[in-house]
Amino acid sequence: MPYERDNIHSLSPYEPGEQPQTDKVVKLNTNENPYPPTRQVMEAIAGVGADALRRYPPPMATPFRYAAAQMHDLEPDQVIATNGGDELLRLAVAVFCDPAGEDGRGGIGQTLPTYSLYDVLARIHDTPIVRVPLEEDWSIPQDFAKRLNNAGCRLAWVVNPHAPSGRFESSDRLRQIAADFNGVLLVDEAYVDFARHDASDLVRGEDAMDNVLLLRTLSKGYSLAGLRFGYGLGSRDLIAALDKARDSYNTDILAQAAAVAALASRKDAAATWTKVVDERRRVGDELARLGWWVWPSDCNFILAKPRENGPGAMETYESLKRDGIFVRYFDQDRLEDKLRITLGTPEQNDALLRALTARG
Ligand SMILES: Cc1ncc(COP(=O)(O)O)c(C=O)c1O
Repeated sequence: MPYERDNIHSLSPYEPGEQPQTDKVVKLNTNENPYPPTRQVMEAIAGVGADALRRYPPPMATPFRYAAAQMHDLEPDQVIATNGGDELLRLAVAVFCDPAGEDGRGGIGQTLPTYSLYDVLARIHDTPIVRVPLEEDWSIPQDFAKRLNNAGCRLAWVVNPHAPSGRFESSDRLRQIAADFNGVLLVDEAYVDFARHDASDLVRGEDAMDNVLLLRTLSKGYSLAGLRFGYGLGSRDLIAALDKARDSYNTDILAQAAAVAALASRKDAAATWTKVVDERRRVGDELARLGWWVWPSDCNFILAKPRENGPGAMETYESLKRDGIFVRYFDQDRLEDKLRITLGTPEQNDALLRALTARG
């Protein structure tokens, strides 16, 4: 008999995109920023001395909370620092959702499709999940909040801009969902650095919503996926509740030093966002010229469907991989005929476009 709980025994774990440990491939599959972190970040890491490593780090990541609060025009107790955005997601389930009960209430509401880790986290916690299919244009259905309320959901998570479609929902639309929803709305802004604007007005000032939590990560915009640093923004009460469930030292001293330096050098990081956005336009246009269907994107990736009478998405994914070009294929309803392509440097994108042109 297995020792683990039934829900863990039957769990299919999250499948991260392939991480080939060589720089000989063109890696356009896991939405990393193709440019290096800023000089200030590298200096901050190098500047962490032996004594700082010997001691425990600041448990609340206080210097980071002050830096993030200043950047977002919030108070430090409206910020929580986490070991990647993924830790904030895990904390949110643990803090806001009930484990499965007889009545099937107290769970999570999400869109379909969405970030595939969400499902796994909900299953680990054994909380009920309600999945609401997105509309044809990937927009969130008007009755999203109502359906979640009817099912007794206590947490809803929506990615904005959306992964994997790249679609952007306005803050007004998100505000309306938060107003209609009886639980906590977590807006996952993992890709917001590449978007037209963020939704921080939902947690700031007189019109702040007390049930909205924003997720941010340094993985994409700040080229720090290897560092594992994310953070949440929200009302004091939501942040205090999350803090209760956090490991005392959930972010390490190297990560804290780098994260403070990352925000301080935001302008330099933002120069990489501009380059990625320029490439998003160019690669989208080039794919369209090859007959692909490309959805508008506010992210550092695009979702695209190969032309009708050529090789399909899975075949293209596999043949690109044989050529050392990695993109992402999801064997999932509504996605199985599409590829998600991370924007790389112009040279990397050219390699992809050349390979696709050669395939006709
Ligand atoms: C939609 C979404 N949310 C959150 C994350 C978490 O990022 P991280 O844990 O690297 O901060 C990711 C990473 O791929 C993501 O795609």
